[in-house]
Amino acid sequence: MARAKKESTDKQAIAKDFEKLGVFYLGRPYDLAAKKAKDGLLLYDSKDLVTHAVCVGMTGSGKTGLCIGLLEEAAIDGVPALIIDPKGDLANLMLTFPQLRAEDFAPWVNEDDARKNNLSAGDYARQQAELWTKGLAGWKQDGDRITRLKEAAEVAIYTPGSNAGIPVSILKSFAAPSREMREDVELLRERVSTTATSLLGLLGVQADPIKSREHILLSTILDAAWKQGKDLDLAGLIQQIQTPPVTKVGVLDLDAFYPSKDRFALATQLNNLLAAPGFSAWLEGEALDIQSLLHTKAGKPRLAIFSIAHLSDAERMFFVSLLLNQTLGWMRAQSGTTSLRAILYMDEIFGYFPPVANPPSKQPLLTLFKQARAFGLGVVVATQNPVDLGSKHCIGLQD
Ligand SMILES: Nc1ncnc2c1ncn2[C@@H]1O[C@H](COP(=O)(O)OP(=O)(O)OP(=O)(O)O)[C@@H](O)[C@H]1O
Ligand SMILES: [Mg+2]
Repeated sequence: MARAKKESTDKQAIAKDFEKLGVFYLGRPYDLAAKKAKDGLLLYDSKDLVTHAVCVGMTGSGKTGLCIGLLEEAAIDGVPALIIDPKGDLANLMLTFPQLRAEDFAPWVNEDDARKNNLSAGDYARQQAELWTKGLAGWKQDGDRITRLKEAAEVAIYTPGSNAGIPVSILKSFAAPSREMREDVELLRERVSTTATSLLGLLGVQADPIKSREHILLSTILDAAWKQGKDLDLAGLIQQIQTPPVTKVGVLDLDAFYPSKDRFALATQLNNLLAAPGFSAWLEGEALDIQSLLHTKAGKPRLAIFSIAHLSDAERMFFVSLLLNQTLGWMRAQSGTTSLRAILYMDEIFGYFPPVANPPSKQPLLTLFKQARAFGLGVVVATQNPVDLGSKHCIGLQD
């Protein structure tokens, strides 16, 4: 009896430590030489995340697992997150069962896993429930903490280009950026350029921002509209490709630079994309509006998971670039802060931030790494290979 009481008091004392606001409970310190956990708690100061984090490890080493823990701890503290999930591993954030009952796990049991363990699906679910209960207890946690997590934040899975989860509409993504962004000449130029590159990528056009006339024309149209604070949509873009808002590009007449017949071909390409069966899924659902993605209408923080595993490479790049650009625009409209306001997590950075090539995701990511700190946005990326983050950028991260 006395022992049970002492254990319960110990648990409360430990919980008091890891439930402190602003610390993320990530486990215990680990003794590498002795290969075992040491006493004490590993409490990560959430303020440290505003200078960003990279999670590196070989496949299966537990990067996603660690980052899920980080996101859950942030959620318990009321910090929302935008989560880019290229491999489809983050939906597990939704599987939280405060009562830890076998029947809660049962609908989610992978029958192959059950078979491999020579168990029926029901027995496997029971085993999982026990495993979780014991596992959590080993870290002085229980169902109550899962309840806290569920009460603290909502989890939503968005599936751009598909109705499998919540679809995301890109219609507003060509709207004029916020005033703060428009007033920053360099930032606006980057936004124009990456939007043009990602859109052309979706059309299968690998455009060089300096040499390609497609890129120059699209940039000119976006720039002219956005500088005046005017919104564009895909239909407007198609129309303006045929009838651009300028008569000269540089010193050349528009028709000499890009004859109307050729412009019509580009307009048709974009129109075909818009008219393609299946594309309507890109135009339905919630707008890519960062503020309302990060918080529900009632003000509850949200873990907004963007599941993009189902998309083609070009579609993924298009969507990730749009999302990063929107995030940048949202960020610049926030007041400065020293505390962690939100997290942007990319479960796999491979391909989005290469050391040499220049895909449209790279520039907005680089700007986020450089500027997000002042606005309390922590960027967390995971990768199997540190080379995916060129060494120059890694040095930048430490600044
Ligand atoms: N701290 C941990 N303790 C025990 N098991 C873990 C831990 N973290 C992750 N795992 C388990 O290890 C497996 C691989 O983990 P995870 O998916 O996080 O790896 P990863 O590094 O993200 O791999 P990949 O590079 O392939 O995405 C999973 O089955 C997960 O449940
Ligand atoms: Mg992973």
